[in-house]
Amino acid sequence: MKPTQEQKAFVEDLLSRMTLEEKIGQMNQESPSIVGGFDVPFHELIEMLTDGRISQEEFGKIMANAKQDYHEDDIRAGLVGSMMVKEPRENNRLQKIAVEESRLGIPLIIGFDVIHGFRSVFPIAIAEACSFDDDLFEVTAHMAARESRAHGINWNFAPMIDAARDSRWGRVSEGPGEDPLLGSRFARAKIRGLQNDHSSLLNYVAACTKHYVAYGACESGRDYNTTSMSVSNLYNVYLPAFRAAMDEGAATVMAAFNDLNGVPCTVNKWLLRDVLKGEFGLDGFVVSDANAIRECVIHGIAEDDRDAGVEAALAGMDMDMGTHIYKDYLKAEVEKGTVPPEVIDEAVRRILFVKVWLGLFDNPYVPEELIEAYEKGLPKEHVALCRRAAEESMVLLKNESVILPLDRKQKISLVGTLADDRNEVCGAWAMAWKPEDCVSIRAGLEAAGANVSYYPCGGPEGELNEEEIASACAEGDVIVAVVGETDAMSGEASSKADISLPGKQRVLLEKLLASGKPVVTVLMNGRPLALGWEAEHLPAILEAWHLGIRMGDAVAAALLGDVNPSGKLSSSFPAVTGQCPVYYNHPSTGRPGSKSKFTSRYLDAPWEALYPFGYGLSYTGFAYDDLQIHKIGKCLEITVRVRNTGERTGTEIAQLYTQDVSASLVRPVKELKDYRRIELKPGEEKKVIFVLPLDSLGFYDNEGKYRLEDGLFRFFVGGSSRDCMMKELRIKF
Ligand code: GLC
Repeated sequence: MKPTQEQKAFVEDLLSRMTLEEKIGQMNQESPSIVGGFDVPFHELIEMLTDGRISQEEFGKIMANAKQDYHEDDIRAGLVGSMMVKEPRENNRLQKIAVEESRLGIPLIIGFDVIHGFRSVFPIAIAEACSFDDDLFEVTAHMAARESRAHGINWNFAPMIDAARDSRWGRVSEGPGEDPLLGSRFARAKIRGLQNDHSSLLNYVAACTKHYVAYGACESGRDYNTTSMSVSNLYNVYLPAFRAAMDEGAATVMAAFNDLNGVPCTVNKWLLRDVLKGEFGLDGFVVSDANAIRECVIHGIAEDDRDAGVEAALAGMDMDMGTHIYKDYLKAEVEKGTVPPEVIDEAVRRILFVKVWLGLFDNPYVPEELIEAYEKGLPKEHVALCRRAAEESMVLLKNESVILPLDRKQKISLVGTLADDRNEVCGAWAMAWKPEDCVSIRAGLEAAGANVSYYPCGGPEGELNEEEIASACAEGDVIVAVVGETDAMSGEASSKADISLPGKQRVLLEKLLASGKPVVTVLMNGRPLALGWEAEHLPAILEAWHLGIRMGDAVAAALLGDVNPSGKLSSSFPAVTGQCPVYYNHPSTGRPGSKSKFTSRYLDAPWEALYPFGYGLSYTGFAYDDLQIHKIGKCLEITVRVRNTGERTGTEIAQLYTQDVSASLVRPVKELKDYRRIELKPGEEKKVIFVLPLDSLGFYDNEGKYRLEDGLFRFFVGGSSRDCMMKELRIKF
């Protein structure tokens, strides 16, 4: 998104007429703050709730009297550049104050967390990434952009593209999994979907790729924890998705909370100025994460708020989310000379450019008729798209003795509180869905004409109901157990030291198995779970994640065979939590794990993932043969034949991996380089062609330099990172 000459001229003219306060105002983002209605500051109220001095109900009663301050006076004075509000008429009202009552009439950029849909919520990112469907990634983002604009939101704090290998971290749910290539393709598609439809101001928003950078590498999977790694690891694993997003023209970036190698990203000049704005060429602006500038004092990199604000501004942090530190301190610091005025001008230039690019100076308002349309209901095509996304994101992990798909004649005992709770289908970071738009698994099965009875035997929390369990086991021909996590068990601040099934759900499954009836397990979860026991004892397991508003329809269709699951895991699943972090693209080590003692293994657990990246079954089968590699100019053409060996049409996701067998740095045993979705009828076979540029076989060294080194390479093609055909080839660049 390079600024045009006209846009540059507009920004320069406006900048030249702004006072220092007005410039700093553009760098200040506000949220409605809770005020009044009680006699203690809001943060004190939260502490009182957290340490139990007041109960949840007392808190609720107090909040019922609370008023919200939308900072109208500061907006009128030109001291606010951005707000975070989701109510469309509120957004129109605030824009009107900014445009018609402030001195220069600069509109607000209004941001919100629209991570996987606004009202039409589609699967959480870790699930959607299992579709390996770039077209799907793009069209769901385009839908989110249109729904955002229809609510006065013109900036999405999305896509979240943090690579993550440790599923103890709750935010693994928000991103596209462990692989840099899948993450990069996901990032590009999301940026295109959010930003590229300029056919109307109501069809695109500014993206905000986050969290820059390596937030997913937080030590021990504990949220906000420290991260440290080599430069080569940073460049080869955690930066690729951000580089891809910048190449695709992402408008903004949100810095991550964590420190990286001792310097918090929020004040990390090398990351923000040298890499992001310099090497990657960000044309838009960087925003801090919530309160992150103030937290630099707690990190221990700044003595006080003023110091943190100066460090952030000098490091290239353009906008302050929620602390008012820029608003309170930067003017004095510019006048003292600690912050050069050019630093302010650069930040404000970037912010104004994005506002111009968004067309906000032409029209920042939402038409009333559009607001009313959404009040009447969701566009049918949005609902249909949510269902498509849900269907493509499920992963069949196990299907012993072909219990699945079920027959509509079978009497189903549906078990588990998650199965009947439409409020749980959207998962973490979905903030605008309405219950009436959501379909539970129970409702989906009933609507699909299944012969189903429901038994609330227990769930992720609380006790089991023995009577209901007994009835479920007695009544049904087959038991469908829906188990997993509530939406509050993943997402931000949801790290767990034990990622096996929470509560008494494993006990529930044992009791169901003891009935002797066939048991189908449907997982509703936001993160990979440690499923060693389940994989050993359960005959059929369908990973259904949190699939969004049409989860119930999609799961019912998969269980009844109307849909053949095609998803492949975007993140590895461990057998036990102690294996975390576990991922496929690891270095070999000098003693790769094996059955012999003196190798990289555990005495008490498997050394490999239970279900690896790229794994997923189907109701049919696929066979690969005739792998061929031909060098054509500066590319390799890699072909393979894939055949449907079963009785059902199915979609296979063929994956291409490579290994640089010997290099100046040890390289992963496999790296995903391409993938292709292919639909095959029973008995049908197709030739899949991958065209791989030779210069994609390189890697970044510890100076951040990209290296192409002659030598032996291995090429793998198959239906998962573990189950592949392989050919070797010596390459000379
Ligand atoms: C949160 C999250 C970030 C989100 C922001 C605004 O703390 O880290 O992902 O966009 O605050 O809600």
